This record gives sequence, C-alpha cells and structure tokens, in this order.
Amino acid sequence: MIVTDAVSSYLAGLRPEPDPVLAEMQAQGERERIPIVGPETGMLLHVLAAVGGATRVVEVGTAIGVSTLYLARALAPGGTVVSFEIDEARHAAAREYLGRAGVLDRADLRLEDARTGLASLAGPFEMAFIDGVKAQYSEYLDELLPLLGSGAVLAVDNVLMSGSVAEGKGDGHWSDEQVAGARAFNRRLLGDERLTGTVTPVGDGVLVAVAR
Ligand SMILES: C[S@@+](CC[C@H](N)C(=O)[O-])C[C@H]1O[C@@H](n2cnc3c(N)ncnc32)[C@H](O)[C@@H]1O
Repeated sequence: MIVTDAVSSYLAGLRPEPDPVLAEMQAQGERERIPIVGPETGMLLHVLAAVGGATRVVEVGTAIGVSTLYLARALAPGGTVVSFEIDEARHAAAREYLGRAGVLDRADLRLEDARTGLASLAGPFEMAFIDGVKAQYSEYLDELLPLLGSGAVLAVDNVLMSGSVAEGKGDGHWSDEQVAGARAFNRRLLGDERLTGTVTPVGDGVLVAVAR
C-alpha cells in the first residue's frame, strides 16, 4: 500500500457511487483481474483533462475502457481520446462499454501496438496517459514527446508499484526487474528538460507532468 489503510478507507468513503456501466466495467476488471485504474486515479485523469479543456487526448493501454471512459467524459465538445490496445477481446469489450456509456463518438479505439500506432499520429495532443506494459514505458515516451504541444499534460500510471519502487525491490506481484525499470523511467522522465513533473501517491502512483 502506498497510503495508510486509514487514508485508503477514508478515500473509499468519499467516492461517489459509480454509474451502472462503470460499475459493470469495474466488476469485470475485478473478476478477470484486469489492471484497470481505480476511482481516484480515474478522477485525477478526468480533472486533468477537464482543467485544460482538452480536445485531443492519447492513451496507451485501453484494456476494457475504464480510464478511457474517465477521459472521454472530461473532453471539451468535439474532443477525442485516441486509445491503443493490443488485446482483441479487451478492445472489443471497451468498444461495447463505451458505446453503452454514450461516449463512443469521443473514443477512437485502435487495436494496434502503441509503439507503431503513436508513430503514425500527428500532434499536437493536449494530454497523454501511459498505462501499457511497464517495460515499454520509455518507448511510449519517446514516441509521445514529439506529439505533445507546449502546456500538454502527461500522466503515467503505476510509477510506485504498490510502494515497491520506493523500497527498490519486487514484492511478489512486481518483479525486481520491473521495479528497477520504473525507477529508471521515473528518473528519466523527471530529469527530461522538455517536461516538468512530479510523482503523486494516487492509486498505484501517478506521475503527472506538463510539457514545456
Ligand atoms: C494496465 S492495462 C490498461 C488499463 C486501462 N488504462 C484502465 O485503467 O482502464 C494495460 C493494457 O495495455 C495493453 N498493452 C500492452 N502492451 C501494449 C502495447 N504495446 N500497445 C497497446 N496496448 C498495450 C494490455 O493488453 C493491457 O490491456
């Protein structure tokens, strides 16, 4: 746990009830152990997109569309979130859920490896969210940086890996290798002169940065 049990329970008590579609998505995520964002991370993404009035957002790792839903609901009129996923069943589930949630017109879901998909996009984007395979984070960042306009927001999930990243070793769920990779990635990103960012202990650790 990154925050204490007391803080975690308190935050859980503040959460609004999810709408029926989001509740179904969360239930599928839990049942099938799909690593979707929790409500606090989801709302952080929503706020970041809304505060900047984002109309062009790009996401790596749709899974079944939970984070995409939080982002899509925050978009300014006419906005779109382009989201990449390589798992066909998850991509199809996201399409179905986002259709029922009434935001499919704002979601450009692509069944494609983000490493090639990002290279085919034209910027600028106002926000990006990285939540794919942890070992590929640096590759996503390389492709994303040229797509971000000045003032664009970048959010990256799981940068603390249940706290293991601070401990410097794996915990059974996260491996030593993943932890070492996350530590290198965090240092790289926070030291990149094209970005200004910070790590927040929200959810599994969310790095938020702004493009200069
Ligand atoms: C952590 S889950 C995404 C969860 C989602 N962002 C959410 O919170 O609702 C990561 C997803 O990235 C997908 N993925 C892995 N490698 C990818 C790649 N190279 N390009 C696109 N998607 C990828 C996986 O199949 C998986 O569904």
